[in-house]
This record gives sequence, C-alpha cells and structure tokens, in this order.
Amino acid sequence: MTSNNRIVLSSDHAAIALRQAIAAHVAAKGWDVVDIGPTTPESTPYPKHGEAAARLVASGDCRLGIILCGTGQGIMMAANKVRGIRCGVCADTFSARMIRQHNDANMLSLGARVIGEGLALDIVDAFLAAEFEGGRHATRVDMIVALEQ
Ligand code: RB5
Repeated sequence: MTSNNRIVLSSDHAAIALRQAIAAHVAAKGWDVVDIGPTTPESTPYPKHGEAAARLVASGDCRLGIILCGTGQGIMMAANKVRGIRCGVCADTFSARMIRQHNDANMLSLGARVIGEGLALDIVDAFLAAEFEGGRHATRVDMIVALEQ
C-alpha cells in the first residue's frame, strides 16, 4: 500500500447498508476509510454522491473510491464526468480485477439491488488487490485521458 491509503465511500439511499458493510470490511483490512454517507434513508440523488466521492479521488485526497446505488450505473455515470476518474460497475470479481489491471480504474461502482453482500465484498477485495499493469495498457488509458481534453 502506498502512503495514501485513504479510500472514499459514498452511495445514495438504495445502498446504505451495503456501503456500511463494505466500509467496515475495508477498514479491517487497514484502509483509512472516508465514508461520506449518507446515513439516513431519505431518497437522495445519486449524482451528487458520485460527484462528491469522485472529487476526493480526482484531487488526490483519496487514492481510490467505492460508490454504490441501486444498480451502480447512475452513480458510476456521474463519477465518470469528473476529470481524472475512471470508474467501472462490477458484478463479478474478474471484471473488478481487470478494471484495475488494464484500465487503471480509480473507482469501483456496485449495485446494491444487483448483488448480495458476500459477492460485493469479494469484488471489493479483487479490486483492491489488483494493480495497474502499465505497458500497452498505459497507452490505451492515455487515450481515455486524452478524451477529457
Ligand atoms: C434509486 O431509486 C435508483 O434509481 C438509483 O439507486 C440507481 O439505481 C440509479 O442508477
């Protein structure tokens, strides 16, 4: 783990319980968890929570981010609008590993109405254990970055 081991978590109302389970799981593995909520069950729009987490990753304040909504899709779309963010929705461990190794993803999105807690924690573990491979993949990630200009 590098010196910055902060990881931000956020969600909308649809994923509070799963987010809190992930926060506890990740903290137990030694990560410095920045859980920016929400904590109460009122309906709240996923774009603002995706953006808030993405800003902390894009600024370098947090090294990685995990965001959740009902499907994982809407909050992922919002996060990916922030320059410097590469976020993928995963419902399997292979994809979670590959978005780190090949796409240098810095955020993971999960759908709390799609997967259960056991699989979600496995996906998180796969994402956090993987490292970007660089090489030919760096060229491709550079092309993604260029699209932001
Ligand atoms: C909220 O009902 C739901 O639309 C949201 O959690 C998410 O699934 C959107 O992508």
